[in-house]
Amino acid sequence: MRHIMVMNSKGGSGKSTIATTLASYYATKGQAVALVDFDEQGSSLDWIERRPADRPPVTGVAGFRDGMRPVPRSSDIVVIDAPARTHGRELTDLVRYAETVVVPVLPSTVDIQATDKFIDELLDVGRVERKEVKLAVVANRFREHTLIAQELDEYLSKLKMPYLAKLRDAQNYVRAYTRGLGIFELPEYLAWPDWEQWKPLLAWLNSKRSVPA
Ligand SMILES: Nc1ncnc2c1ncn2[C@@H]1O[C@H](COP(=O)(O)OP(=O)(O)O)[C@@H](O)[C@H]1O
Ligand SMILES: [Mg+2]
Repeated sequence: MRHIMVMNSKGGSGKSTIATTLASYYATKGQAVALVDFDEQGSSLDWIERRPADRPPVTGVAGFRDGMRPVPRSSDIVVIDAPARTHGRELTDLVRYAETVVVPVLPSTVDIQATDKFIDELLDVGRVERKEVKLAVVANRFREHTLIAQELDEYLSKLKMPYLAKLRDAQNYVRAYTRGLGIFELPEYLAWPDWEQWKPLLAWLNSKRSVPA
């Protein structure tokens, strides 16, 4: 069973968007997918409710209420949507559940500063220090040729962890989410530029590089 957590203490950075996109991606690949929502707002669970009956299913787990216990043992992939404002003990506890943590970051000064503190804290977690968890960052809602995107790009490039994607700001994510889908379930003519941007992240997630030795 593979556990991938999407995490950033900053709200609105794209955790639920990326978690639901990953869940739908693996479901369309024929994997048994559980999506665990640790955010009381339950955005990922809302998404599952919107998911059309004819799409490959994703099992929802209300992690904020029930923890990880209800995750079916038959799951191949467990995607975990972490809540905002995770710090201290709660952060350490959550990180236990995953071998891989993906941190989305928005091109905004406030987000970069908040993420910088968050990553410092994450790097201090024992399991991360001992390399029992692999971390990666992705830029989200990236708009090429803007100063703040350039600043984010420089910041993420300097971190000592894989920087795997620049996901553009696109209505496709909103459109897909509203319909209980992921961008890989949208028509190719609409979503191919987004598919391209996900390739390095998916390749990493599907490789041994994202799993602790
Ligand atoms: N790449 C993107 N392009 C356009 N809108 C996005 C993108 N990523 C996230 N959003 C939107 O930004 C808002 C916050 O995203 P969300 O995934 O809910 O963040 P979080 O779970 O970290 O709070 C949502 O309205 C979502 O639709
Ligand atoms: Mg969320």
